[in-house]
Amino acid sequence: MDASFLDIPLDRLRDKRGMKWSRYGDDVIGAWVADMDFPVAPAIQEAIDDIQAGNEFGYPADDAGATVREAFADWMKREHRWRIDPDDTLLLGDVLQAMHAAILRFSEPGDGLVVQTPIYPPFLGAVKANNRRLDENPLLRDTNGYGIDFDRLRAVIDKRTKMLLLCNPHNPTGRAFSRKELKKLAEIALEHDLIVVSDEIHMDLVYPDLKHIPFASLGPEIAARTITLSSASKSFNIAGLRCAVAHFGAPELRRAFSKINLRLFGTPSIVGMVATQAAWRDGKQWLSLVREQLDENRQRVEIFLSANLPEIGFHMPEATYLAWLDCTALELDERPQEFFLKQAKVGLNPGSDFSPASDKFVRLNFATPPAVLNEILNRMSYAVKR
Ligand SMILES: Cc1ncc(COP(=O)(O)O)c(C=O)c1O
Repeated sequence: MDASFLDIPLDRLRDKRGMKWSRYGDDVIGAWVADMDFPVAPAIQEAIDDIQAGNEFGYPADDAGATVREAFADWMKREHRWRIDPDDTLLLGDVLQAMHAAILRFSEPGDGLVVQTPIYPPFLGAVKANNRRLDENPLLRDTNGYGIDFDRLRAVIDKRTKMLLLCNPHNPTGRAFSRKELKKLAEIALEHDLIVVSDEIHMDLVYPDLKHIPFASLGPEIAARTITLSSASKSFNIAGLRCAVAHFGAPELRRAFSKINLRLFGTPSIVGMVATQAAWRDGKQWLSLVREQLDENRQRVEIFLSANLPEIGFHMPEATYLAWLDCTALELDERPQEFFLKQAKVGLNPGSDFSPASDKFVRLNFATPPAVLNEILNRMSYAVKR
């Protein structure tokens, strides 16, 4: 396998039916929602083709879920040096479902949930939809990038604070939090008896020289209060197939969670399960190629911005294929997302969705073939200079 198969021309991308390419007009390049513009791993495609060829659309085998959970445990051991028991995991449709369920199970209306902002908007949605209090802990920014404000975190926590909703690696800033930072967070969670929901969906997309550290791997005490959520959907580009995993760091935590009516979750589909299993069993070679391409793309973004749009503030993401762009210095008359949509015909995510304070930011998804990324960046630069 070489990387040439990643190179899909823009015309073919435009024919895609998904959200990324259908929301805006035909002349707009979609660079927003976190799907990649790359074909899935051959192992995944074959697994799905098999299901189709065999016309196997009935109920999955009794042990189908257990097999996926075992594949997850193997993947975590091989890729992230985290040894877990598949029996401490549950399979569900998606990560956010599990986050909402954990909030309902481990907090009451009005209780505080800590969130590090700016944040993937459904975190804010989960706090609001369940009538919880947003205990906002904005990330600090300095010339090197973003970090956790521990003083502010301690100040924001009170008796009604019950949970920490952690996003690691962090969307949208691309931070892969260090062991030191995570340990400090763990200390605070223990001090204040917080349940931690650690969304690690971007775990496989950490760039060379850094490692993803599963929060629950820090030690048994913190694991006992941590629900880790993940899936193959971001790293392997199968978000539409709906299959995710929740890991509970202690049997009591899993038992407590399972007191809610698990039937409400539904179950992942056979296609989601076989695709996820194929990803974790046989997807590594594909993932390595994709990671190389993403690394090249993130460097392309940095080089291009510093040469052509130096007014845009940007810190290289340590993980994810998302670039968090500060457009404040462009002094635009409208929100930057609207500006780039109208003037550059590039569809980005508006920063205000990630926190009101980020209304001068946009999020750019650079998981696209280099030629398309060049077109995106050129269009943005041209629109600003015009
Ligand atoms: C941090 C994070 N969590 C969760 C999700 C969505 O996961 P799911 O579709 O499994 O709910 C995304 C999607 O981009 C994400 O970036």
